[in-house]
Amino acid sequence: MLVPLVISSVAAGLLSVTSYFPYKNHLKLHGDSLDATSLASNHVLNLEHCHPVSTRLPNEPAGPVEPSFCEDVVLDRRTGMAYLSCDPTRLTWDARAGIFEDGGDKLAREQGTPGIWAWDTSRRSLARKLYISTPPPEYPLQAPADLLKTFHPLGIAVTASNPYFVEEVDEGAEPRPQPPANLVVVANKPYADKPGVVDIFVHDLDKVGGKDHATLRWIKRVEGHELTGTHVDTDMPFKVDPFRVAIFAEQYSQPIDRDYPEPQHVKDNPDILAGFKHDDVASKAARTVRIPSFFVTSFPDRTKEPPSQGISERSSLFSAVWQPVASYLLPQYSLTSDSVTSKLFIHHSSINRTLSVRLDGSDPDQWHGFPPLLQAWDGGGKAAGSNSSAIALFIPTLTVDSAKVQEWEQHWVRGIAGGIRDHRVLQKATTPDGRPNNVLQVYKTYTPSFVNFFAVEQETPVRALVVDEHGRSWTAGNPNTRSVEKWIASQRDERRRRLGLPTSSPALSSSERPPRPAAKIDQTTFVFRHLGSVVAHPWDKEKLKTKRKKGVFLRKEFHTFNVFKSPAETKAEIEGRSEEEMRKRGWLPTVPTGLAVDIHKKLLYVTGAYEERGFAVCALPADWIEA
Ligand SMILES: *[C@@H]1O[C@H](CO)[C@@H](O)[C@H](O)[C@H]1NC(C)=O
Ligand SMILES: *[C@@H]1O[C@H](CO)[C@@H](O)[C@H](O)[C@H]1NC(C)=O
Repeated sequence: MLVPLVISSVAAGLLSVTSYFPYKNHLKLHGDSLDATSLASNHVLNLEHCHPVSTRLPNEPAGPVEPSFCEDVVLDRRTGMAYLSCDPTRLTWDARAGIFEDGGDKLAREQGTPGIWAWDTSRRSLARKLYISTPPPEYPLQAPADLLKTFHPLGIAVTASNPYFVEEVDEGAEPRPQPPANLVVVANKPYADKPGVVDIFVHDLDKVGGKDHATLRWIKRVEGHELTGTHVDTDMPFKVDPFRVAIFAEQYSQPIDRDYPEPQHVKDNPDILAGFKHDDVASKAARTVRIPSFFVTSFPDRTKEPPSQGISERSSLFSAVWQPVASYLLPQYSLTSDSVTSKLFIHHSSINRTLSVRLDGSDPDQWHGFPPLLQAWDGGGKAAGSNSSAIALFIPTLTVDSAKVQEWEQHWVRGIAGGIRDHRVLQKATTPDGRPNNVLQVYKTYTPSFVNFFAVEQETPVRALVVDEHGRSWTAGNPNTRSVEKWIASQRDERRRRLGLPTSSPALSSSERPPRPAAKIDQTTFVFRHLGSVVAHPWDKEKLKTKRKKGVFLRKEFHTFNVFKSPAETKAEIEGRSEEEMRKRGWLPTVPTGLAVDIHKKLLYVTGAYEERGFAVCALPADWIEA
């Protein structure tokens, strides 16, 4: 008989695999070998440096007037503006988990609605939610009708409104003025059954209101065929469902007028727009927007999956002990994610097309529930002899038994020429007397390719990543994956109950609720070595420039330090503290998903997609990290 034979061989397989080394490593990586009591008690490190940006008690939900449930945060170095992408409906509209049950505004009065928040970090003010405005009817580009109705922001990136303000000047030249506006690029998942989109907005920092300008002006949506990724060589299409975005500040769209069409009274008297009077290069640049190209990572292609069975969700770890074991034996049990998640795409704004980026080396592995993160680094800029805004990309990778952050470097192996492509674009136009006048234009794009040289081993799977201007990475994660899953599942069920949706388990009393899991944040720094001796630190730009010019390959030696830790805590433990204790103790988002770092002010910003209590700012403790 065939069937019992198969079963018994699977059983034998199970037995042998549970004593198998990678399986043990798997459990260790996800914290299953950690003792719950040790995680709770001895798990505080520098927490007193971390506080919510708010006057309320750290333990209270943020409510509608503060950002909460923030997937991502970015900091713009030029203007000091931080932007947060937050979605208070996250527990029931969760693109990470593939759960789309309720993205509506039934609870808006107590928790707010999805949106982008801006925060001027150079002032002691609070973050402000930006009002999204759409162009007037006479504007050539019209906002999609659903923009204001259904908006669920995920990854976010920022750059100046025009490359003029981004370009690095040569030494001795006058520095560029601060940009008059920022471009905010947001991955948005409005619909459950369609891939998401990328919306691009202008945040004006000049004009009335200055940096406190509370309006985000929509200018463009990238979606559908413009976002369908094609492979550089094979033309194989991928449905890109955008998650994280990183700016490639080198190839831009044609200029677009920054202002919506001028109202008649401005046309009659142009002096009304103060600051727009001069014709020097900077004020010309201030008047137009050019959209940069950007890298984008994708969620798995869920259109191929069978429709989800109501509230069942694919866990990021395993719901049963046999699953990891079975995944070794039978590929259909494997929870390594769909291939589109381990790819990287670049959207070329000059031609409105998305291509896949060639990664030469061991591809990043992605795992269900840990969607692909991405950071680009400019290698220290001109001062360090670099000439690209993405001299390196940082991508976390997670296999069955190891978590790493990979560093991918641009064109070490392939020259630039290999990435240049011609694209023919038919521009449809009509002559003044109404006859068609189509022009075939040829555009050249450069799609960088990358090669993987370095990978830094991590103790826990990486849930948030940021790279500072010296190329050091900051990573956040939770030591125990299963406790994260339990906690999120219980928060989600609470929310479902409030919304009257079916839940996955019966209501739990407050003492039965799973504790908030422990979290930690690490810094990974490095030294450059050549022939065995340390030749440079990350900030020695002059030295690095000399070496780069000579074409010396420097080996990097990485060192990872744990900088912050928060413990696992039950509701009773948290509620048992006095106000005084609570304020002193400090606080981190339970499941950190977004990081931004300001190494000049020595501050780290931490958000959590499942965090109802806002976001945290941590002062970098002096003796714990490098300069
Ligand atoms: C790209 O799309 C914009 C509209 O968003 C359009 O104005 C522009 O002409 C397009 N570019 C090309 C090369 O087709
Ligand atoms: C950047 O520098 C590298 C190495 O010096 C060189 O090969 C490459 O052509 C340069 N790229 C650009 C865009 O100038």
